[in-house]
Amino acid sequence: MQIDWENLGFSYIKTPWRFVAKWKNGFWEQGALTEDNILHIHEGSPALHYGQQCFEGLKAYRRPDGGINLFRPDENSKRLNRSARRLRMPFVPEEMFLDAVNQVVKANQEFVPPYGTGATLYLRPLLIGVGENIGVAPAPEYLFIIFCMPVGSYFKGGLAPTNFIVSDYDRAAPNGTGAAKVGGNYAASLLPGYEAHERNFSDCIYLDPETHTKIEEVGSANFFGITAENEFVTPKSPSILPSITKYSLLYLAEHALGLTPVEGDVYVDQLDRFVEAGACGTAAVISPIGGIQNGESFHVFYSETEVGPKTRALYDELTGIQFGERKAPAGWIFDVPLD
Ligand code: PLP
Ligand code: COI
Repeated sequence: MQIDWENLGFSYIKTPWRFVAKWKNGFWEQGALTEDNILHIHEGSPALHYGQQCFEGLKAYRRPDGGINLFRPDENSKRLNRSARRLRMPFVPEEMFLDAVNQVVKANQEFVPPYGTGATLYLRPLLIGVGENIGVAPAPEYLFIIFCMPVGSYFKGGLAPTNFIVSDYDRAAPNGTGAAKVGGNYAASLLPGYEAHERNFSDCIYLDPETHTKIEEVGSANFFGITAENEFVTPKSPSILPSITKYSLLYLAEHALGLTPVEGDVYVDQLDRFVEAGACGTAAVISPIGGIQNGESFHVFYSETEVGPKTRALYDELTGIQFGERKAPAGWIFDVPLD
């Protein structure tokens, strides 16, 4: 297969190998790599009816020396298990998770994009409740799957700013599943996302479901803003996804850029406190936000066409660490064993 590494977007590409393991009678079977990308599951599977499923997203990065890095995969393992707990699913032991990630990357290593193209290998771990069931109850069996594909930018612009729109819909409820990475949250975001795209916005910005006054997050990433006083600010809320990228940026903002990290309330009617803003996540990396439409008003941050200097510096620091060009804080980078 010929791949144009520099012009990849974020879409499915079949790579040769994926990992599949089954949980049955209280235990995980060993699991194995398979070439088959089609699942054959019971029609009563709770994943299909009641959304009993959760997933993760992480990337493998080709280093200048040809090796392959993973970025904080232990955090993805921990979050998968927090999501699993919320939906009454069995935990995937961290060792099993990391071993499966390594197996999938190694088996598909020719699909890890070359260093310097900016592209990465995106891994999608998935935990689904399967087996015979019809009442609202946890599944009798579970599948843990990891598949992967090479990807480029998630939002069209890459590091060019794009515009977002504040949604009237809620993505999550105050004590619901917003902090878990479960499919239901994303199902709820499909109509708002469609309506945003129809109006040429990259995605929605969701407000807090209780008061509708504070920014929560983007449909597929967390939000951050940078103030003229050199604060790096991100929303704190129990109903947003705790983004691993966001927590990494809070650390790097302080320790690499000398900004003051702040997790707090971000009132949507106070956007002029920010001189730069962006969306951050594994797929989104750091995507600068040009402007935000909120009702009749449109607020531009740094520029609609150019990335701000602090956002760029954060991007360079984060991606420099991920690709192995810059020194990483202890424990952030995992080297994939290839022999
Ligand atoms: N928020 C949502 C709703 C997401 O889907 C994602 C993607 O995983 C994020 C935030 C970013 O999280 P992370 O940085 O861990 O990828
Ligand atoms: C990720 O960034 O890994 C995501 O899951 C975001 C999106 C593709 C749903």
